[in-house]
Amino acid sequence: MIKLPLNVDYRKKVVVVTGAGGLICGAMARAFAQSGASVAALDLNEDAVEKLASELKSEGFVCKGYKANVLDVGSLEAVHEAVLRDLGECDILINGAGGNNPRATTDNEYHHEAKEGGKSFFDLTPDGVDFVFKLNFQGTLLPTQVFAKDMAKKGSGSILNISSMNAYTPLTKIPAYSAAKAGISNFTQWLATHFAGTGIRCNAIAPGFLVSAQNKALLFNEDGTPTPRSEKILRSTPMGRFVDASELIGATLFLCDENSASAITGVVLPIDCGFASYSGV
Ligand SMILES: NC(=O)c1ccc[n+]([C@@H]2O[C@H](COP(=O)([O-])OP(=O)(O)OC[C@H]3O[C@@H](n4cnc5c(N)ncnc54)[C@H](O)[C@@H]3O)[C@@H](O)[C@H]2O)c1
Repeated sequence: MIKLPLNVDYRKKVVVVTGAGGLICGAMARAFAQSGASVAALDLNEDAVEKLASELKSEGFVCKGYKANVLDVGSLEAVHEAVLRDLGECDILINGAGGNNPRATTDNEYHHEAKEGGKSFFDLTPDGVDFVFKLNFQGTLLPTQVFAKDMAKKGSGSILNISSMNAYTPLTKIPAYSAAKAGISNFTQWLATHFAGTGIRCNAIAPGFLVSAQNKALLFNEDGTPTPRSEKILRSTPMGRFVDASELIGATLFLCDENSASAITGVVLPIDCGFASYSGV
């Protein structure tokens, strides 16, 4: 059980969460389940969502895990059918699957500092860049095409996308991920406008820097002191600390609630300890 920062009644709501096997969306799936929703936890990593679902079930909540690939329409449609059978029509969609890939990352921040033999901007391949664009952009568009049909039919619903700090100003080394997340912020506004007359709202959160199992070694030395990149991040963050995944939950529950956020659509909410507001001076 986690302590919920906000009490919203999600009973009778079916919430579909992609990327629910991961850090952020696992926490979101749990929060919706604890708020009374029936949660469909989708991920490529079947073991991770099965584990989450069985944990939640043993605590008395409703959650079912599904193996799904957000880039494969056939897989999404099959899961949609299964969710309809198991839980009912989708009321809320969290488009959480996403991330960067080393194939679309340069070794150096500045080209004039690039070392011989390292991966420079000129070594990035179309495949690597395409992988990151697809995962983040198509991985949001395709589940929305499949699951928002239920919402359009009912005339109500909510979609939450996950943007990032790099959507405002690109971060060094990760050009494809930055551009793809800028695309997600833009697409959030497009969807908000497109669906405005149907009763579907679409918003996004833009999380700041979190510490996760994947990036821990990049952020901290073995003795626990911050690495130079980590020091740079903290110097650029007015609150001087990282964001905890639990700090995304209040905004998620608020933005998806048809009562609390009934007039809010098309916003991208930074949850970043001030990072996006600070010019560095
Ligand atoms: N961690 C951060 O600091 C941070 C900051 C800003 C935004 N984000 C975004 O938040 C979202 C969640 O990130 P996270 O840190 O929890 O990452 P994570 O790696 O812990 O979780 C991502 C999940 O998506 C799943 N996934 C990957 N490809 C998939 C596919 N094709 N189909 C279905 N599932 C797939 C993975 O198996 C994984 O469980 C991502 O969109 C990420 O870009 C993360």
